[in-house]
Amino acid sequence: MGTPERASLRKSFVTLTGDKTTLSRFQPSDITGDYVGWLNDPVVVQFSNQRFLTHTPESCAGYLASFENSENLFLKIERKGDGVCVGTMTAYYSPHHRTVDVGIMVGHRPGWGKGLGQDAWSALLAWLLDLDCVRKVTAGTMRCNVAMVRLIERSGMSLEAVRPQQELLDGVPQDLLYFGRFSGH
Ligand SMILES: CC(C)(COP(=O)(O)OP(=O)(O)OC[C@H]1O[C@@H](n2cnc3c(N)ncnc32)[C@H](O)[C@@H]1OP(=O)(O)O)[C@@H](O)C(=O)NCCC(=O)NCCS
Repeated sequence: MGTPERASLRKSFVTLTGDKTTLSRFQPSDITGDYVGWLNDPVVVQFSNQRFLTHTPESCAGYLASFENSENLFLKIERKGDGVCVGTMTAYYSPHHRTVDVGIMVGHRPGWGKGLGQDAWSALLAWLLDLDCVRKVTAGTMRCNVAMVRLIERSGMSLEAVRPQQELLDGVPQDLLYFGRFSGH
C-alpha cells in the first residue's frame, strides 16, 4: 500500500504575483547576455559557490535542462511595471520528506535594496507553505550575507543550525546559517 497521492509542486506552479514582482518559469529565451553576466559578476556571486565557476549560455542551458523531469522549480523574477527580469529563484523539492529548499539571486544590481528580493521571496514562501504537498521550507546562507539573512528572518523563518566556519570567503572562515519554517500541515 503506497502513501496517498499528493499534488506535485512542479505541476501546481503557474505564476505568482507579489506587490513588486512576478514569478514565472525560467525559459530558454531567458538565457540572455544580462543573465549570464549576473552569474559571472563577482559582486553578485560573492557569497555563492557559483563564484568558482565560469558561466556560458551553454552551461546555463544545461542547468535549466536539469530541472526537466524533476520535481524542482527554476523561476525568473520580473519587476512589476516594466517587466524587467531582475533575478531568479530555485525551489528544490523532496517529495519523500515534503521539504523544499529555496534560493534566490537578484542579479540586476540596480534593483538591490528596493524590496524586490523580499517581495519575491515572500510570495514564493507563502505559496509553498500553503501547498498540501509541502511540510517545511528551508534556506541557507553565509552569516556575512547580511541582506540575505535579513530577508530570510523577515519571512518568518527560524534559525535551526549553524555550521561554524564552514566555508572560506577570501581566505576567511565563515559560518553557514540554516533556516526553516513549517507549514502547519
Ligand atoms: C540577497 C538579495 C536576494 C537581497 O535582495 P534585495 O532585493 O537587494 O533585498 P531587499 O531590498 O528585498 O531587502 C531585504 C532585506 O535586506 C536588507 N538589505 C538589502 N541590501 C542590503 C545590504 N547591502 N546590506 C545590508 N542589508 C541589506 C534590506 O534592508 C532588507 O532588510 P530590512 O527589511 O530589515 O530593511 C540580493 O542582494 C542578491 O540576490 N544578492 C546576490 C545573490 C545572493 O547573495 N543570493 C543569496 C545566496 S544565499
